[in-house]
Amino acid sequence: GVIRHYKFDIRLQNVTRLCHTKRIITVNGKFPGPPIVAREGDRVVVKVVNHVTNNVSFHWHGIRQLQSGWADGPAYITQCPIQTGQSYVYNFTIVGQRGTLFWHAHISWLRATLYGPLIILPKLGETYPFAKPYKEIPILFGEWWNADTEAVISQALQTGAGPNVSDAYTINGLPGPTYNCSTTDTFKLKVKPNKTYLLRLINAALNDDLFLSVANHSLTVVEADAVYVNPFNTNILLISPGQTTNVLLKTKSHTPNATFLISAGPYFTGQGTFDNSTTSGILEYTTQPMSKPLSILKPTLPAINDTNFVANFSQKFRSLANDKFPAKVPQTVQKSFFFTVGLGSNPCPKNQTCQGPNGTKFSATVNNISFALPSRALLQSYFYGKSNGVYATDFPSFPLVQFNYTGTPPNNTHVSNGTKVVVLPFNTSVQVVMQDTSILGAESHPLHLHGYNFFVVGQGSGNFDPAEDPAKFNLVDPVERNTAGVPSGGWLAIRFFADNPGVWFMHCHFDVHLSWGLRMAWIVLDGELPNQKLPPPPSDLPKC
Ligand code: C2O
Repeated sequence: GVIRHYKFDIRLQNVTRLCHTKRIITVNGKFPGPPIVAREGDRVVVKVVNHVTNNVSFHWHGIRQLQSGWADGPAYITQCPIQTGQSYVYNFTIVGQRGTLFWHAHISWLRATLYGPLIILPKLGETYPFAKPYKEIPILFGEWWNADTEAVISQALQTGAGPNVSDAYTINGLPGPTYNCSTTDTFKLKVKPNKTYLLRLINAALNDDLFLSVANHSLTVVEADAVYVNPFNTNILLISPGQTTNVLLKTKSHTPNATFLISAGPYFTGQGTFDNSTTSGILEYTTQPMSKPLSILKPTLPAINDTNFVANFSQKFRSLANDKFPAKVPQTVQKSFFFTVGLGSNPCPKNQTCQGPNGTKFSATVNNISFALPSRALLQSYFYGKSNGVYATDFPSFPLVQFNYTGTPPNNTHVSNGTKVVVLPFNTSVQVVMQDTSILGAESHPLHLHGYNFFVVGQGSGNFDPAEDPAKFNLVDPVERNTAGVPSGGWLAIRFFADNPGVWFMHCHFDVHLSWGLRMAWIVLDGELPNQKLPPPPSDLPKC
């Protein structure tokens, strides 16, 4: 492999959307941020220089970070933030991965504007397991706020209420024609007839799963989270925040007399306020004679709460599981976990009025623990043996409070707060069943694990049944990914080998749930061999 050098200058930049000009934090003045392109086996070196007053930190979402946990990036987990005027060099090698991922800021809600594609091409001379596409196009879905997102989340945390929703969904930063003042702010995909395009779809939105569809064109899914999948055709996709999906779009054999909307809108299962607007881009055939007016065809998206579609769609993903790309699914389990994930509440502090449920503050938990970010980074504390006052290792393997998770909610919705981790010996085979709770209403949760891909061996609606459900697990060709949805009012079972030493964050990729505490961390101990140990940190690692 070769070394790919990048420099990220974090600067303010005026950007206008929806007739509203806003000073946003950017990488190199660009919104969305610049793509990182490398090949499997390459080393990526990104020097981040912080010129703004906010602290920053960057995550290379989906990169395994084998023995390079210091470059993973979540603030207060693997590093202290990069402060104003400081810099940090992220340095990692891409091992055994190729496909579409993305990078984003990993502190507070800064990823609202700090995100971009991370594209890993196959090694030189290696081909895709499908015919070479004519062109490859990254398509990032995001959200635009007229307000300052840091104010949105800090106000929500203060009052305990749900945060305001965004003002628009975007495609490559552009809201598209259904929004005010946005006809020119529309993503255009210009294509030729009878060609195959590889669309690298990335959901970088903060708080919404998105349905998406291209009018009158079928899509072939070939990859998820930078792992090839057994190809399947679909007219509609669901893509959750943190997920990436590669699809092939075959254009029509002859120039049609129309343009086609590429549309995305939310899948929403929770309570309270939501946004059911739609962002659109335009698929346009360049061979079209521009003289006659073209009709504009629109796709149909599922209803905003179509949980059946989502359940069926997620079942379609299967690993290739062939000789070249085997599915190394743990067939036996050494450590088994059952995690409840969902919302709860914290009591309102005295002398304050809270706008959350019944005058409390919203909170979100794993096993009823709302994870509090430490004041010093976990990885340093672990590496130097200074966990005292930073974290405890008694994160429960099973929920301490039992109830009928998807049935009648308990009377007491209060959570406990703390910084607790699970310690795993090197190479443990792990199973985690994640159960959505309906304590404050059922909701879907796109769970993301840092430092690993996992296999989705099972999923279902209602309560997980430990007597019946494991017998139905798919241990042959389950999909391998880094982010998967715990279904609203249902459960998800994943397996992985803990073969990467370090401290690894796991959390809901809805930023609002992340901020409320739906997060925890794993510490994976070193193995015996030199290549099974976490090396010491780089000398420029930021200090808290
Ligand atoms: Cu893409 Cu911890 O996140």
